[in-house]
Parts: sequence; C-alpha cells; structure tokens
Amino acid sequence: MIQVKDKAFRVYIPQDEISAAIAKVSAQLMEEYGDKDPLFLCVLNGAFMFCSDLMKEFSGPAEIGFIKAASYEGMSSTGKVDFHEAGKLNLKNRDIIVVEDIVDTGNTLVALHEYLKKFTPRSVKVCTLLFKKDAYQQSLPIDYVCFETENKFLLGYGLDYDGYGRNLPEVYILND
Ligand code: IMP
Ligand code: MG
Repeated sequence: MIQVKDKAFRVYIPQDEISAAIAKVSAQLMEEYGDKDPLFLCVLNGAFMFCSDLMKEFSGPAEIGFIKAASYEGMSSTGKVDFHEAGKLNLKNRDIIVVEDIVDTGNTLVALHEYLKKFTPRSVKVCTLLFKKDAYQQSLPIDYVCFETENKFLLGYGLDYDGYGRNLPEVYILND
C-alpha cells in the first residue's frame, strides 16, 4: 500500500505483467507497421513511460512525436481538451499511432482525433496501456489495448494523482 497526498493506493498491475503486455502489443504493431515508417504520437504527460517501453520493443523504422493534452484536473474529467505540439510535427500522409496511457471517457482521444485529421494523415490508430471500458462514451475503436481495467482511479507508470505518482513502475488502484 502506498500513500499519495490524501489517498491510499494498492498495486493493481505488477511490472512483469506490464512488460508482458507491452511485448505482445509491440509484436502486433511490428506486424502491422514494421515496414510502414509510422509516427508514434506520445500523448503527454501520462504516456511517457508506456511509450518509452513500447518503442524499445518496436524494431522497425519509426519516428516519435509528442503532443500535450490537458483535460483532467484532480480526479474527474473536465471535458475541455487543449493540444500543444512539442516541436513541429509532420503529420501529413503519415501512419500515426496515438500512444495513450489511459482511455477513460474517450473525450480526449476523440478531440485529438479531430485535431489530427486536419493535417490529413494517411491513417490514425490508437494504442493505450489502460482502457476503462465501462467509462468509455465514444464510438472510435481503440485498436491496441494492453489492459481493460475497472472503472476506478488508477495511478503510476505515467499516470498521476494531482501531479504525483507518475514515476511508480507499476499501476496502482485507489484503495477505497
Ligand atoms: P478521458 O478524456 O476521459 O478519456 O480521459 C483521458 C485522460 O484523463 C487520460 O489521458 C489521463 O490523463 C486522465 N485519466 C483518466 N483516468 C485516469 C485515472 O484513473 N488516473 C489518472 N489519470 C486518468
Ligand atoms: Mg493522458
């Protein structure tokens, strides 16, 4: 059990399970994108750790770009999403794989999808570490999922509670 600010969390997905799931998804990505020179688009801040481990397993040619989405304050979604590209991204005619830490309501993802479409990429797919299936309110398919999870607040391996806990190497769940 760990304490982050005023909340207690317990381990939900240990490190070895995360690594195994990433190896599996990377193998799928290699099959589909191994010779396509895709652009992995890491959604900051939460996906930094997942994206790093995922890309180490992807052995084909690929670029990585970073985009910052800000939509979540404290423990509930605010609905409004802003995007800031980290450096100029060349999205036109690219096969893009959006790399997310977690898909919850899906609002962030749909907003990002709309944003990306304006740059006429060749294709856009989504790869997420965690998917809160029961909270999902959109119809956009989530193409690559490492774990479907409970609809509870999660922490660690990139995910934060009020800015803290991102550095934890395993995924934790709120202990309530
Ligand atoms: P959505 O727009 O509701 O799908 O939420 C997307 C964003 O909210 C994610 O990229 C996370 O940054 C954040 N988020 C959603 N659920 C959690 C959680 O359980 N823990 C930490 N952050 C979360
Ligand atoms: Mg995020």
